[in-house]
Amino acid sequence: MIKVRGLNKEFIQGQERTHVLKGVDLTVEEGEFVAVMGPSGSGKSTLLQLLGGLDIPTEGDIVINQNKLSIMSEKERTIFRRKYIGFIFQNYQLLPTLTVEENIAFPLHADGSLTKEKNQTILKLLDSVGLKDFGQKRVNLLSGGQQQRVAIARALVNSPSVLLADEPTGNLDRNRAEEILGLISRFNREKNQTIIMVTHDIFAAGFADRIILFKDGVIDQEASRKDEDYAKYLANFMA
Ligand SMILES: Nc1ncnc2c1ncn2[C@@H]1O[C@H](COP(=O)(O)OP(=O)(O)O)[C@@H](O)[C@H]1O
Ligand SMILES: [Mg+2]
Repeated sequence: MIKVRGLNKEFIQGQERTHVLKGVDLTVEEGEFVAVMGPSGSGKSTLLQLLGGLDIPTEGDIVINQNKLSIMSEKERTIFRRKYIGFIFQNYQLLPTLTVEENIAFPLHADGSLTKEKNQTILKLLDSVGLKDFGQKRVNLLSGGQQQRVAIARALVNSPSVLLADEPTGNLDRNRAEEILGLISRFNREKNQTIIMVTHDIFAAGFADRIILFKDGVIDQEASRKDEDYAKYLANFMA
């Protein structure tokens, strides 16, 4: 379970202060699939960065699977991240001169060698993101959409209990997006993975159990699939 309480984040650059998150409270159950929507600049990516322990809040608490991030050292946060978190970055953050397989395998090196079993996992993932024959290609030779799929495979390779995805289908056409969302939903169902996905695409958000609307650093609205008027809420968004 993820518990966020009173989360504030301020960026300070010289004289300039940007108050990005202004008291976010959020609880996400284990195995829940949450979509985060909202205007550009409203703090969605910042929230994901904090949830993944990549940055620290100015104020407030994050507890993930009973680990309180605010009391961890940087090293502890790195270990925590490896153990629990898969991250799909908005700009992929792949290692350009490594091959597709090497990129996907990267998170596995931290805890030892590549076993046969792990290699099987990589091959399976490659297949499921539609890159079966691309394992040996260097990622800087791939298209944006292909790189995005490598990033998705890399995020899933450790079977993380929490997947944080920042616009994972942003550069994909509808068919490919549907495939990827299907894959993410399948991990969510079969492995009870908790998913928090930032997206601009209501089609993508429609795969989630709950949609949170972010506005100016706080949660402005939310609706859950269980709500009676969820369909109306979705329709409103599409309009
Ligand atoms: N490292 C940073 N330093 C300074 N300002 C930042 C930093 N990261 C994000 N911001 C600012 O925080 C605001 C929210 O950014 P972001 O979380 O990326 O929004 P979103 O993902 O909703 O588009 C923006 O105004 C952005 O310029
Ligand atoms: Mg963003």
